[in-house]
Amino acid sequence: MKTKRFCVAITALAMASLMAACSSENSLPGFREKTTQKPVTAETPSTPATPSKPVEKAKPTPEPTLEPGASRPYNRDGKIGPDNMNSPDGGPDCDKVKCVALTFDDGPGEYTGQVLDALKAAHVKGTFFELGRNVANNPEMTRRVVREGHALGGHSWNHPQLTKLSNEKANWQISATNEAFQKTLGVMPSFMRPPYGAANGRIFELMKKNKVASIMWSVDTLDWQNKDVKQSLENVHREMGPGAIILMHDIHPVAHQLVPLIVKEYRAKGYHFVTIPQMFKKSGLKFGHRYFSENDIRG
Ligand code: NI
Repeated sequence: MKTKRFCVAITALAMASLMAACSSENSLPGFREKTTQKPVTAETPSTPATPSKPVEKAKPTPEPTLEPGASRPYNRDGKIGPDNMNSPDGGPDCDKVKCVALTFDDGPGEYTGQVLDALKAAHVKGTFFELGRNVANNPEMTRRVVREGHALGGHSWNHPQLTKLSNEKANWQISATNEAFQKTLGVMPSFMRPPYGAANGRIFELMKKNKVASIMWSVDTLDWQNKDVKQSLENVHREMGPGAIILMHDIHPVAHQLVPLIVKEYRAKGYHFVTIPQMFKKSGLKFGHRYFSENDIRG
């Protein structure tokens, strides 16, 4: 009996310490704060150091790109995903015709299915920027997005402003989302959109490290704010132009009503609707670079 009670006490102690360890980072599964360690200092060499040779300047290595063409990689690490996910093939030549990309953030969510139905009815392919948390919670909807021929990129794990996070936490937001895609689709996309479009040199370096380009936008419908189809369309009218990237959200009930209106009006004006990989198929997407529109790319 004594032994049993002893074991119970030990188990309770172990549980308590385990819970304490887990609660150090309670909101982010799998995230571990790096323990601060003293830098290891090298022992002083017993023999005097010989004068070092002049160091040759390292040649810059060419930046990796997501390049067009059937035999080239569509996604990270040279992989082609299910249903040719993120293939740049199939679109028009955007040098010759007016192109525009419809993009949808923050899903998969309540209205993703309706947005997909609207895109299908309009015979248009779009690009979705999904949260890792939502991909993990609704992998079947993410697979549907890809199955129906749309392009897909990350949008962080749970939508923090990356510039406000430590390098380690911001890196986790990007890499954990990529891993959610890996688990769901077998590949990681080569591009993402930072939440709120908030990024700086430090975050672009992390994107480069994670082999993702940064896709921004040039037309903001503000659908999440106005929650109004007419107002959102007016915002499109004000900012639209050839090579535009239009920002909408598939977690609000505006996007699926807005899609047919945008497509009808701008198709009549000679626009072609393309995915992000199709829009940049000639140049490819460079990791860490920012793409605001077809004509506004910043290094
Ligand atoms: Ni967002």
